[in-house]
Amino acid sequence: MEAAYIACVDAFTRQHVNAPKIFAEMFREVEYNRVIELGTGTGAFTYFLGSYQSGQVYTFDTTRPEHEDRLRRIQVRFKHMDVFAHEDIVANLITCPGRTLLLCDGGDKAREVNIFAKYLKVDDVIMAHDYAGTPAAFEANGYWRSLEVVYEDVRATCERENLQPFWPKRMLQIGWLGRIKAKPHGDGIHL
Ligand SMILES: C[S@@+](CC[C@H](N)C(=O)[O-])C[C@H]1O[C@@H](n2cnc3c(N)ncnc32)[C@H](O)[C@@H]1O
Repeated sequence: MEAAYIACVDAFTRQHVNAPKIFAEMFREVEYNRVIELGTGTGAFTYFLGSYQSGQVYTFDTTRPEHEDRLRRIQVRFKHMDVFAHEDIVANLITCPGRTLLLCDGGDKAREVNIFAKYLKVDDVIMAHDYAGTPAAFEANGYWRSLEVVYEDVRATCERENLQPFWPKRMLQIGWLGRIKAKPHGDGIHL
């Protein structure tokens, strides 16, 4: 399956070919004060995140990204760190005033959602990659290459934290779970 190519770093990402287009659409409609990416990988997708929206990008990985110098040049903050060993660092960023987008794309995406969702503020958005609602839906739709998290893995957290669907159709087509922290009894954004 084709992966997204980011021309400015001349590199392919570990993202669906339509991911940059759909994320760019979202960034045109929804403004974030910060984007926190758990799992930088090569940094190609991170470069896209740093280029296509105005919020500060923070990205964490246990290995150094190939594009680290380029990320620094566009003021993306990379930290060489295990996100589970430094929960407080990620939590302090999420809870800063203003809207946060938290992208769970590290080594254990369900665990990232289940640990970090409790720090989200109302209107913050959380996403997890390599997602499908169920294994059967993943097999049937074949939107993306790999399946690492299904709804059942994060259901209890979504219910407890009142995380409502966020751009569900578009996000599913690029292998992402999208949820927004709603006010008590809120209804989410069903775009
Ligand atoms: C799927 S890749 C990230 C892909 C990247 N977000 C992209 O879109 O191209 C997952 C990354 O998570 C990193 N990782 C695994 N466990 C981690 C941890 N506990 N803390 C931080 N990063 C971790 C891995 O080193 C790997 O680079």
